[in-house]
Amino acid sequence: MYDFKPDAALAPEERYRELLGAADALTGGEPDAVANMANVAALLWDYLPDLNWAGFYRVGPAKSGGADELVLGPFVGRPACIRIPFGTGVCGTAAQSRATQLVEDVHAFPGHIACDAASQSELVVPVLRAGAVIAVIDLDSPRPARFTMADAAGIEALAALLSTRI
Ligand code: SME
Repeated sequence: MYDFKPDAALAPEERYRELLGAADALTGGEPDAVANMANVAALLWDYLPDLNWAGFYRVGPAKSGGADELVLGPFVGRPACIRIPFGTGVCGTAAQSRATQLVEDVHAFPGHIACDAASQSELVVPVLRAGAVIAVIDLDSPRPARFTMADAAGIEALAALLSTRI
């Protein structure tokens, strides 16, 4: 049994330190990318309060054989849109720009894709390998302005850890 238990009273920095330790322990010896993304999605859900969606989109070939796009990966939450072109929505913007997108109000973000009507704010962090984007980590919250710079820094550290593990 994996017995990682977040303490509700933890400050964000300490919470992310523990989350990263748990993610490192769970993914360190495992080469299967899907298993690692699935466990990290579960950890995100366990460790971070006020989420309605937490998971991954991977970069993969389009069905038609066109340009690469984002394809739904392991997640916790309601069923979500499966394919997102680069440059579209919050996830596609993060993938195209290779930059974190911290969105306080998703309704004010041009092209935001509403997978779950409950979502009010969103944090999307690209996962880079050798400078190329291979996936994004997507967090949605039903609370407006749920995510802070501390969340962005924590999820960026997680993305760096996962760079060669997913
Ligand atoms: N809202 C995202 C789409 C993915 S769902 O939130 C799971 C976006 O605009 O890219």
